Amino acid sequence: MDWSTARGCSNPDHRLTVPGPPLVPLAALDIMSTSPGDGMYETRVRHLQNTLQQSPYDALALIPGASMAYLTGISFHLMERPTLLLLPAIGVPALIHPELESEKASSIPFDTAMFPYPEDPASVPAAVAQAIKALGIARGKVAVEPLGMRYREATLLREAAPSLTLEGADDLTASLRIIKDPEELGAMRAAVQIAESALEATLPKVRIGMTERELAAELVVQLLHAGSQAELPFQPIVAVGPNSALPHATVSERQLSPGDLLLIDWGARVDGYCSDITRTFALTELDDELKEIYEAVRQANEAGRNAIGPDTPCAAVDRATRDVIEAAGYGPRFLHRTGHGLGLEAHEPPYISAENDLALSPGMTFTVEPGIYLPGRGGVRIEDDVVVTEEGSESLTSFPRDLQILE
Ligand code: CO
Ligand code: CO
Repeated sequence: MDWSTARGCSNPDHRLTVPGPPLVPLAALDIMSTSPGDGMYETRVRHLQNTLQQSPYDALALIPGASMAYLTGISFHLMERPTLLLLPAIGVPALIHPELESEKASSIPFDTAMFPYPEDPASVPAAVAQAIKALGIARGKVAVEPLGMRYREATLLREAAPSLTLEGADDLTASLRIIKDPEELGAMRAAVQIAESALEATLPKVRIGMTERELAAELVVQLLHAGSQAELPFQPIVAVGPNSALPHATVSERQLSPGDLLLIDWGARVDGYCSDITRTFALTELDDELKEIYEAVRQANEAGRNAIGPDTPCAAVDRATRDVIEAAGYGPRFLHRTGHGLGLEAHEPPYISAENDLALSPGMTFTVEPGIYLPGRGGVRIEDDVVVTEEGSESLTSFPRDLQILE
């Protein structure tokens, strides 16, 4: 989205379409002089403030979640006691937080004005009002994440300053996080490697007659054993037979049976960063149609990965996988977009869909996960995690994609 056209602003410099390096050299910013001692999080906040200065917004308001963790390096609890980080376009950020979190708050690695409140919930509005006053944004336009901000905190902001306006601005935080730096990529590589070794350790335990739940339990144990953070990106999907035809199946008591497809969609988390991989296996020999859809999905996955490169629109990657599946005659059975961005969240921009004309840039990370789902019979999905490079792309996942027969 382009804010300048969305708001009728005629200055092309106000456009924020594709994220990347700061829009203004950091050294050119007067209020935030760079110093060699600046840490990663200070640089991220400076980049955000730089972006805000070129946007229609006076501040960004965040509650605990991926963006707050990205900017502060600290993961605050999202709970009934509000925590609000207010990042103004100019000046020192403010954190409204429960007093009991004061110690955690004090480890934010950049200058922050603190507005702690005691246990009495009636004390929260005053803390919010003080923070808004300190930042001078009582009549300002404040950006929020449409998929992040809660009714509770939005109401606190509006009631503290009736002239303050809140506006959803998904692209603002997406633009900060969509290009991964080498450190972030390192965490993602580790998350992929842990997930792959966890599956390698799990597969020898697959037996006809065991249940999806038993297999999922083993996989979770192996994920933690291999070094994933306990907070997995999502609950693994282990789906056999007809259940594998449901793209978001939930683990059940269904038993693994001969002739079934076994679909496993799992991931690990390292330093907050996610992996998200799917492989589909054959339990003994498959019938011809299931073999055929497996081969079509395998080729679609490969075509999708081969289509990736700098400046390629997301929609072209989606087109590449869909062309293969349509040519095989299963177009209507490919029920979803080709993939989604991956990072601190398991689903984040860029979305690899027919509607998204965003051009890919080096450092973007996302999944390629075409699938074919035959209701009542079974489904195949093959999901890889990729990073866009200067030359094209690199798959972070390397688990074999050829059909493996288990048991
Ligand atoms: Co997945
Ligand atoms: Co996925």
